[in-house]
Amino acid sequence: MEQQSKGQWGSNFGFLMAAVGSAVGLGNLWGFPYKMGNNGGFAFLIIYLVLVAFVGVVVTLAELSLGRKSGMGVVGAYESISKKYSFVGWFGWISPMLILGFYSMLGGYCIKYAIANLGDLFNASWGVNGAESATYFSTFYGDQIQTSVMSLIFVLLTILIVKGGVSGGIEKFSKFAMPALFFMLLIVIIRSVTLDGAGAGLSFMFKPNFEVFKGTGWISVLASAGGQMFFSLSLGMGIMITYGSYMRKDENLERNAIIVPMADTTIAIMAGLAVMPAVFAAGLDPAGGPGLLFVTLQTVFQAMGSAGPIFGFLLYALVFIAAITSSISLLETVCAVVMDKRMEKGKTINRTAITWIMGAIVAAEAVFVSLDGLGSNGFIQIFGQGCWLDTFDLVSEGILMPLGALIMSIIFGWIRPGYTDDEISLDAGGFKIEKYFHFCIKFIVPVIMVLVLAGQIDSFFG
Ligand code: PFF
Repeated sequence: MEQQSKGQWGSNFGFLMAAVGSAVGLGNLWGFPYKMGNNGGFAFLIIYLVLVAFVGVVVTLAELSLGRKSGMGVVGAYESISKKYSFVGWFGWISPMLILGFYSMLGGYCIKYAIANLGDLFNASWGVNGAESATYFSTFYGDQIQTSVMSLIFVLLTILIVKGGVSGGIEKFSKFAMPALFFMLLIVIIRSVTLDGAGAGLSFMFKPNFEVFKGTGWISVLASAGGQMFFSLSLGMGIMITYGSYMRKDENLERNAIIVPMADTTIAIMAGLAVMPAVFAAGLDPAGGPGLLFVTLQTVFQAMGSAGPIFGFLLYALVFIAAITSSISLLETVCAVVMDKRMEKGKTINRTAITWIMGAIVAAEAVFVSLDGLGSNGFIQIFGQGCWLDTFDLVSEGILMPLGALIMSIIFGWIRPGYTDDEISLDAGGFKIEKYFHFCIKFIVPVIMVLVLAGQIDSFFG
């Protein structure tokens, strides 16, 4: 009865909004459009879609079914297969813990930029006020007090939602936030693609370029697409296990495992349509990562004249929503494990207290990463990285996530094949994609995961 006391989704729509909310995050907005443009355009998109079909859907299904079968968070779920896989579960606990540290700081940046654009709308002193975007950004990220306060606000909001519980907090928030995000994104897309010169942005994203596949180039394209897909779909770290554990037995696992990746990919492409045409129309160079969001796009909004702050506010607010629906999934994953452990010991679980305690640890991390100021404040750095954000990212996204997913595919494909078949067979009409699932998880997922792992390590140290 564990899942009863931790909570359950009120409806399948609510689950979907929460799961898509987790998947849609900073990765979609600043990762996908840029990687697509730089790694072969339409050709990258095709590879990405193939990977989503053969790996993304399959791993999502494996995670959801493992979660629902065990009724446990990520550690308990792996322990339910065998105690010896406990470590895989702990990988899936450490990763969200680390990601939360830097994700909260970036979420705080979004709050700051949404407020600053609002300030411009009212000609207030707290607006961007025509400051040069790159200077404005570097002054901000080096400002330890402001960035710490903004990250703390973001963590606090995350805690307040997660403490409300699965259906009363996460689901309730996602059901309203995700449609809002979608609507705001549509408005920004319409503005972006109708700007003069928007076509260059579209051709940056979509023009097929097969050059990138020459020689061994295809390996790095595959690794980059695979890494992007993994992070974007929130896989390899127990999020979908945790969210699956709150699903009712009569919900359709296969259908959900297809819808979530499709929705995430659709929003990633839409993010590209919102961002790239505007960047090119303003005559700027495309970028990836924080530079795209906080420098390039801010320049675009400033170039738009009086309507700029409106679109600026809309965009940063929608990125904030994307980020917070992801961070609540991360914090829930962390807290669910602690709740499971308390239950195992026969103790009562107090969701509120656990959320505050884990949230406090996250807050400490977020302040630390903020104080580091993207490496601008002279902190000692390790593993050859330039800032602590990158170090946290290296350990989680670079190593633990792909390694965890690789081990998972070996367990599901080779050691305990069919472990969750009975769970998936509860779907109306039975386990429809059984053969496909077994084939992919046995032969395709492990190969792709090795590539992703190698690609990630190469990109962090290359
Ligand atoms: N999927 C989110 C993104 O694309 O930004 C980030 C993320 C959230 C990654 C949750 C991993 C995760 F477990």
